[in-house]
Amino acid sequence: MKDKDAFVVTIDGPGGSGKGSLALNVARELGFHLLDSGAIYRLLALKALQQGGDLGDEKQVAGLIDEFNIRFEAGDELSVPYLDEVDVSAELRLEATGDAASRVARHPLVRERLLSLQRSFFKPPGLVADGRDMGTVVFPKAKFKFFLYASVEIRAQRRYKQLINMGLSANIAHLQADIAERDERDQNRSASPLKPAEDALVVDSSLLDLAQVTNLVLSHIRERQSLQPV
Ligand code: DC
Repeated sequence: MKDKDAFVVTIDGPGGSGKGSLALNVARELGFHLLDSGAIYRLLALKALQQGGDLGDEKQVAGLIDEFNIRFEAGDELSVPYLDEVDVSAELRLEATGDAASRVARHPLVRERLLSLQRSFFKPPGLVADGRDMGTVVFPKAKFKFFLYASVEIRAQRRYKQLINMGLSANIAHLQADIAERDERDQNRSASPLKPAEDALVVDSSLLDLAQVTNLVLSHIRERQSLQPV
């Protein structure tokens, strides 16, 4: 594929809908770069927490972006996130970090100041970007847009299994309440609320497993793109 033919695939959806794993599969199959935009908000939240800052202070949080030193290194399975050259993989996935990320992500100034960083991930041969506003705000001209939905109950069950597999303790009722609360915050904020782009294909993954959703998304892209598997 020529550089000028590079394109973006966006995968948005609520937390725990499986979009991260889906994005990773799709990026691997297409040989594309990957942007996990949630990880960027999580890294910023970690930085704010480390500095003992006030997550509700928009200017203070946005100011941290001036000295925001992050990178992702290719790992065996997932890429390894670094904040100020320290591997923060473990802290990044904690529920508390996700919650803090959702709080820093509310601020319009923070979102605006993270736009160019997110867009810089788009390089040939292409990008799969996952998040909440990839198709609506960050890459509005993306060639393919998907919105992955799954019920709160199903997402809580998936998250529960993930945490247990990671050797962490978890309580399903608390997870369900946390997910519902974070959905509420992500959907109702004024800046880039979580919603499907008008031209997104909405996929309900409640009753589909990861392989089925991956096949569905890849078939949709390949039918329109006549891309060969890599
Ligand atoms: O996908 P995630 O759980 O890693 O995202 C963490 C938080 O970051 C989520 O609650 C909302 C916010 N987020 C966002 O506002 N916009 C994005 N594009 C990605 C994440």
